[in-house]
Amino acid sequence: MLEGLKRLEYRGYDSSGVAVWTENGIKQTKRKGRVVELETALGDDLGGTLGISHTRWATHGDVTATNAHPHTSSDGKFALVHNGVIENYVGMKNFLIEKGYSFKSQTDSEALCNLIAYHYTKEEEEQESAGKNRFLESVRKSLRHVEGTYGIAVICTDYPGELIGARKGSPLILGLGKGENLLASDVNAITHCTQNVVYLNDNEVVHLSNDDFAITTVSCQSVEAVIHQVDWDTSETELGDYKHFMEKEIFEQPTSLQNGMRGRFSDDASTAVFGGLNLTPQELRQIDRILFLACGTAWHSCLVAEYLIERFARIPVEVEYASEFRYRNAPLDKNTLVVAISQSGETIDTLGALREAKRKGYRTLAINNSVGSTIARESDGGIYQHAGPEIGVASTKAFTSQIMICAMLALYLGRLRDLSYGDGVEIVKALKKVPAQVEQILEQNDHIAAIAKRYSKYEDCLFLGRQLMFPIALEGALKLKEISYIHAEGYPAAEMKHGPIALISEECPSVFLATNGETFHKSLANAQEVKARKGKIICIATEGCDIPEGLADETVLVPEAHEIVTPILMSIPVQLLSYHVALERGCDVDKPRNLAKSVTVE
Ligand code: F6R
Repeated sequence: MLEGLKRLEYRGYDSSGVAVWTENGIKQTKRKGRVVELETALGDDLGGTLGISHTRWATHGDVTATNAHPHTSSDGKFALVHNGVIENYVGMKNFLIEKGYSFKSQTDSEALCNLIAYHYTKEEEEQESAGKNRFLESVRKSLRHVEGTYGIAVICTDYPGELIGARKGSPLILGLGKGENLLASDVNAITHCTQNVVYLNDNEVVHLSNDDFAITTVSCQSVEAVIHQVDWDTSETELGDYKHFMEKEIFEQPTSLQNGMRGRFSDDASTAVFGGLNLTPQELRQIDRILFLACGTAWHSCLVAEYLIERFARIPVEVEYASEFRYRNAPLDKNTLVVAISQSGETIDTLGALREAKRKGYRTLAINNSVGSTIARESDGGIYQHAGPEIGVASTKAFTSQIMICAMLALYLGRLRDLSYGDGVEIVKALKKVPAQVEQILEQNDHIAAIAKRYSKYEDCLFLGRQLMFPIALEGALKLKEISYIHAEGYPAAEMKHGPIALISEECPSVFLATNGETFHKSLANAQEVKARKGKIICIATEGCDIPEGLADETVLVPEAHEIVTPILMSIPVQLLSYHVALERGCDVDKPRNLAKSVTVE
């Protein structure tokens, strides 16, 4: 369990705990802070062979050991771990207090644990006479009262060797091992024990022991399990010689980008091919609008997709924050294709938006890095990124791989319309060169680290870029703020003079992203405006760009390339810069404060 928790720590890391079934009742240990605190408190022997554990990202209640999971029922019979949010927990809690149950924590999860205990006691005679498993029935009955989302695992003192799990809205995976079965909210937590997994669906309940399992729905229908083989190399989730996962993942990009392209070009190398779109070229030609949905970094990939698809395929594209789309009730055209981008495939805001689009009858596609994730399974078709597991909380290789897939999608859709054979061939050539070019940029690691040293003390920073560089400016600002806690903003460079220029002073440096192209000289003019106001300038540009002497305080150059791949290339220095600034400031780059890797609550 501890190994699993460590592998899951990127999902939440403010407190953790375990509960183990023993002959003398449930033995529980919880600690505030990282899993290592829990490990120290536990010592060598957990004292049992059945248990549940959790590492928390707080939603309801402060970060304390009491609010950490597992939670136990006030009669001590049940222990539960829970991901998600129980929206009606206040009413549930009041009802249970009236019935004599007491509460130790401020969490919504404890209410569900006590509700299970309540049903267990209440249904005693009824269930026994019906020959049913009382534990299972009381979990099911309680779940029928829950409004909200959950991925849970529960143990009961009266049922040695039995574990019950259930999901709605939050991921839950059953792992089938040798002489052991496991439950986890992410395959990454169990791949060191087994590669055979069953992805549970919403409203399913699994009842398991070390050598058996059965899946039913909350309303008691039996479910046939589909066993999948996870083909991850477990070393992919280990640090190796790197100091941080973020560093490892930045340096893995030549490989992750290569993997995203493998086998995906046509024989004549003039277009991309995708196996899982589940849409014929005829159907794709009828699409007259594409709506991209995502959150955070993945949303920035969507903005790059907007530029690329409109430019090369001439299809109008809209980009929405998934969390906004779901409740906005936007009118859409019937020939709109909805594309969700998500590294984890479990982000609840993106999943909610995808479901809303499906409910309205739109065709949906997912661009996703986690095979078997909920978003991948629920969309009509999709493209896997094949970037390998991303553990660092700040997304790096998943971002560039999403942009790569979007560039290939722009090429594919373009070639179905008006993009010429010759243009297609040029683009394929440019895409194939990217891994080597990224390798070249990574060689500037020391140069970028030296720049980071000079700029790590500033508390504000602007990232400015035009056209395709605008989403990269947004991403640069997000990276810097999330791992180094420096206030940073991304703007289209020309917008700066409409307000943000007021921030420019000796105390606020600007990172300019400028590529050779039609807006290059206009970007330079924007940089001059910063210079004139004594703002320091870090210029990230393509080789061969004519940057006037004395304009930039620092310069990083990336290889000259086809415009379709410049967003990938320009992302690398931006990632390295924020990584090194965060290191200089002594920040925990892999586990930045307040964040979690996949956000499974709204
Ligand atoms: C930032 C970051 C987040 C995620 C966002 C969506 O570095 O990683 O902004 O991009 O939470 O996550 P996915 O892509 O898993 O849906």
